[in-house]
Amino acid sequence: MHKRNEPITMLTAHDFPSAHVADQADMDMVLVGDSLAMVAMGLDDTSEVVLEEMILHCRSVARGARSAFIVGDLPMGSYEISSEQALGSAIRMVKEGRVHAIKLEGGVEMAAAISKITTAGIPVLAHVGLTPQRQNALGGFRVQGKSTASALRLLTDALAVQEAGAFAVVLEAVPAEVATLITKKLRIPTIGIGAGNGCSGQVLVQVDMSGNFPPGRFLPKFVKKFGDVWGEAKRAVETYRSEVKDRSYPAPEHTYPMPKEEFAEFER
Ligand code: KIV
Ligand code: NA
Repeated sequence: MHKRNEPITMLTAHDFPSAHVADQADMDMVLVGDSLAMVAMGLDDTSEVVLEEMILHCRSVARGARSAFIVGDLPMGSYEISSEQALGSAIRMVKEGRVHAIKLEGGVEMAAAISKITTAGIPVLAHVGLTPQRQNALGGFRVQGKSTASALRLLTDALAVQEAGAFAVVLEAVPAEVATLITKKLRIPTIGIGAGNGCSGQVLVQVDMSGNFPPGRFLPKFVKKFGDVWGEAKRAVETYRSEVKDRSYPAPEHTYPMPKEEFAEFER
């Protein structure tokens, strides 16, 4: 796809049904992102998620996504200590989580870990720019690469992960011009999120793009709400509730019949 200049589609999933819909809608890649901390576990950020939890979600996704290429996020704390720790965690994600590849956050400083994991035959998707696991060091969720110096650091990071063997790199919250130029300078595809349409592909969090959240939730500028899954689910539950309350559900067609003679005998 990258060679054909065809945009690569990627979407997150965190369980069997969200993986199934992504797969059936023909996503090229499914990401079990650690954003599941917020969208599936209700946590404030990704920092509390542990490897065992990621593996559990990956297993469910792997059963739902039969044809997409599945990538699982290494959670914070499972890869930064050493390249050996990173490889050990990556192996568990593949063997226990049944993913095809792993993603990890970081540029130059993660090159050795990326190289270690890829030499073991596990493909690595890198992630630079806004790296949410480092939000405290970045001073929150901020656009990265807005100054010349910061854009140069981003390019250095992208080149480093490419040289280390990453098969692609996520660029998150980066000015479109910067992401486009980085994409041109790389051999590997870039997958953008909040990085404009000059990237080789795009990724979004499924819960965000499908509108599977209650009104009033903050959404980053780059998210487009393509549906109203939460609204539809709420309408369904409200209708169910009112039909139970007014006894219009269950109707005869939802009910198991019994032969009249049998019931007459039972009644007697
Ligand atoms: O965790 C996640 O969902 C991600 C994507 C937004 C790239 O890392
Ligand atoms: Na992530």
